[in-house]
Amino acid sequence: MTSHLIATLPGDGIGPEVMDEARKVAAAAAAAFGFELKWRNFPFGAAYFLEHKIVLPPSALDDLAEAEALLLGAVGDPRVEPGPLEQELLLAIRFHFDQYLNLRPALSFPGVPTPTPLPKGRRLNAMVVRENTEDFYMGLGGQGHGRLENEFHTRRNLYNLDGHLTLHLNPKRLAAVSVGLMTHPAVARITYKAGQLARSRGETRLTVATKANAVPQLYGFWNEITRETLAAKFPELRPDYQNVDALCYLLPRQPTDFGVILCPNLFGDIISDLLSALAGGLGLAASGNIGDSLSMFEPVHGSAPALVGTGRANPIAAILSTAMMFHHLGETAAAEAINEAVTTYLTGASRPFELGGNDSTAASGDLIAAHLANL
Ligand code: NAD
Ligand code: IPM
Ligand code: MN
Repeated sequence: MTSHLIATLPGDGIGPEVMDEARKVAAAAAAAFGFELKWRNFPFGAAYFLEHKIVLPPSALDDLAEAEALLLGAVGDPRVEPGPLEQELLLAIRFHFDQYLNLRPALSFPGVPTPTPLPKGRRLNAMVVRENTEDFYMGLGGQGHGRLENEFHTRRNLYNLDGHLTLHLNPKRLAAVSVGLMTHPAVARITYKAGQLARSRGETRLTVATKANAVPQLYGFWNEITRETLAAKFPELRPDYQNVDALCYLLPRQPTDFGVILCPNLFGDIISDLLSALAGGLGLAASGNIGDSLSMFEPVHGSAPALVGTGRANPIAAILSTAMMFHHLGETAAAEAINEAVTTYLTGASRPFELGGNDSTAASGDLIAAHLANL
């Protein structure tokens, strides 16, 4: 019997609650399709940080690397200032394993209301392809008074970046700086992935989010490399460059007009939450952080502190993330069955609180798992 070793990192807030349901549904799918799942749980997150005063122990990334895939709940907790957990845990994993391709499908479900009415019989079926290693996420910068002195040491799979930046302010003022960086190989490889995806979906157009008008140093470079890569490798695709502000205007008006949307890291983060709302809810939005070694699957949403313990967290984003994980592991039938079980559940009599129903987090998971058990 095939066996898969899956690392789980439930994390903070509603992370553990949605992770329980994701595991429940994954186990039901594995039983239905005759493969075995072995789980290895990692306790990292706010509680671990508050107890041990470190985000990750030195062996953590090597331990994670032993698994075939990583399923993550969410990180971030009101007891910890914003930044360290997100950067040293979530982003550290994305960067260490060079998970450069962040796939964020935005798919509407029949019968689930959307804020913009969709044309009859049509589903919103967009895909954010987010560059996941560069841009303003590099973690380069800091604060200073009059003098900003920043040491840069960053390791990526594609390169090491070392150096320092010194800035003087006259008169002396308290100031902060954050450096956004993009490199040719990183922009070219994500463009290639977006092009392949658009081609496999039979699309003729590929939307590219940009902001080259205001920040040409960074996003003008992004435009140049994406344009050059698309022209060389995907001559049949028509690139559709949209300033990200205009894209935020156009998406809610005509969401079904969009297919693959290629985004730099920061805009991809923002656009994926917007699209999740347009498709029915953040609690439905799954994602994959994909690289050539360990890939990580997680809901697009965060730890939603206000929902903790209420039973109102929608587990479907986490459940659909396990379907993406099964696709990645080659368990395609199990992945498709999970997607179908979710669709069947959402067209049924009851639904999660987020979508106006009364089903608790666990009840939604139970009902979806039951559809798989009936296969
Ligand atoms: P959030 O995604 O946690 O919540 C945004 C809104 O969506 C809230 O109103 C929340 O109640 C709602 N929501 C989120 N998930 C839901 C679900 N499954 N079901 C129903 N409603 C849901 O974003 P935030 O409030 O900006 O961040 C909270 C914390 O999570 C912060 O610490 C942030 O850094 C972190 N965060 C982590 C991740 C991640 O781990 N990948 C992603 C986003 C935010
Ligand atoms: C996401 C989150 C993260 C991001 C944060 C928590 C660092 O918002 O996964 O969408 O910005 O990528
Ligand atoms: Mn986000």
